[in-house]
Amino acid sequence: MSALSTRINNLSESATIKMAKLGRELAAKGVDVISLSFGEPDFHTPEHIKEAAKQAMDKNFTYYTPVSGYPDLRKAVVAKLKNENNLDYDFSQIVVSTGAKQAIANAVLCLVNPGEEVIIPTPYWVSYSEVVKLAEGKSVFINTTVEQNFKISPEQLEAAITPNTKLFMFSSPCNPTGSVYSKDELEGLAKVFEKHPHVYILSDEIYEHINFIDKHESIAQFDYIKDRVVIINGWSKAFAMTGWRIGYTASNSEIAAACDKMQGQITSGTCSITQRAGVAAYEGGLESVLEMRAAFKKRRDIVYKLLSDVEGVKVNLPDGAFYFFPNVTSFFGKSYNGRTIKDADELSIYLLEEGHVATVGGDSFGDPSSIRISYAAAEDKLIEAVRRIKEALGKLK
Ligand SMILES: Cc1ncc(COP(=O)(O)O)c(C=O)c1O
Repeated sequence: MSALSTRINNLSESATIKMAKLGRELAAKGVDVISLSFGEPDFHTPEHIKEAAKQAMDKNFTYYTPVSGYPDLRKAVVAKLKNENNLDYDFSQIVVSTGAKQAIANAVLCLVNPGEEVIIPTPYWVSYSEVVKLAEGKSVFINTTVEQNFKISPEQLEAAITPNTKLFMFSSPCNPTGSVYSKDELEGLAKVFEKHPHVYILSDEIYEHINFIDKHESIAQFDYIKDRVVIINGWSKAFAMTGWRIGYTASNSEIAAACDKMQGQITSGTCSITQRAGVAAYEGGLESVLEMRAAFKKRRDIVYKLLSDVEGVKVNLPDGAFYFFPNVTSFFGKSYNGRTIKDADELSIYLLEEGHVATVGGDSFGDPSSIRISYAAAEDKLIEAVRRIKEALGKLK
C-alpha cells in the first residue's frame, strides 16, 4: 500500500512535462526530434532585465522580501494595470508569487471549500483541474468545440451555474487553443455573473501580450463584477522569463490578504533578484514584447497555412498565445504498421515515434479530440515539423 496521501495519489502528472520528457529521451538516442510540446517562448530574456538582476545581487538584494513582494514592484504592477488596462488597484491588492502558477494555486486554495463547484470551460490549461482537486473542489466543465472557436456562450455559462458554484476559471488568450474573448463576449459573460453574486472569477491573463487582434481586454473592466475578479498575470510569457518564476494576483483586499497568508506558510516571497528584474521589465517599456509578438504572429500565419493543408486535420485561426489545437478525430480507428490510433494522446505518441515531432494529446486539457501544437520555435523548424506531421498522418489508413 502506498504511504502517500490520497491528495497526491489523485493528482495527475503534467502532460506537457511528460511529453517533453519523452521527446528528450528520444533525442538522447540520437533521433532528431522537433519539440512543439512546451509552453515557453524560445526567445532570451531581454538584456536590460538580466542587467537589473545582476545589479540586484551586487546591491545585496539577497534577503527575504515581504511575502507579497517588494512594495515598488507591486506599485509597478499597479501602474501597469492602470496604464495598459485602465484598471484601478492599490498596491496592497497585488500579491507577487513564484510564477502565475503559484498565484493560481493561492487563489483557488483561498476561495474553494471542499465540495464547492469550479466551472472550467474546456479545453483548459492542464493545472486548473488539478489545483481544484488539491482544494477538494469539484470541477464542472463546459465543453466547447473548434467550430465555436473554443469560446463559451453566456447561455452555456448560465446553465452551468448552481447555488454551489464558487469559482469560474478561464484564460484569454487561451492555452491551449489561442482563442481570445472580445470585449463584447466578455461583457456577455459579465452580465451572467452580475446575476450570481456568489460566483468569483479567476481571469488568467498570462498571454495578454501575445494577442494578434486589437488590445487586450480583461473581464475585470466591468465595474459591477470587478470586486469578484482575481486577475492572474506574470512575466513568463510576455518577457520570456519562464525560469525566473514570477507572477501575481490582483484582487479585492480580502483575497489578497488570504493569498499573502497562504504564501507566507508555503514559499514566502519569490526570489529577491527576480523581483528586481520584474521591476526593470515593467519600467523598461514594451519594445521587446512587441518584437516577440510580431514573430509569433508571423509563425502563426505560416503554421496555419500549412496545417490547413493537412487532410483530416480541423484547425481554426487562433487570435493569441502560441498554440494550435487542431481536431484530429478523423484519424481515430486508423492504423499503420499494426498500430491503431484510439485517441488524441495515442496520436501524439505516434507523431513523436513515427514523425519525430513532440506535441501534447488533448486529454489533459479536458478535450480528447485534439492535440496541442506549440509554435514557439524557429520558422524552419515549424515548417519541417508540419511536413513530418503531414507525412506521418498520411500513413494512417
Ligand atoms: C494559461 C497559463 N496560466 C499560467 C501559466 C503559468 O505561468 P508561470 O510560468 O508564470 O507560472 C501558464 C504556463 O504555461 C499558462 O499557460
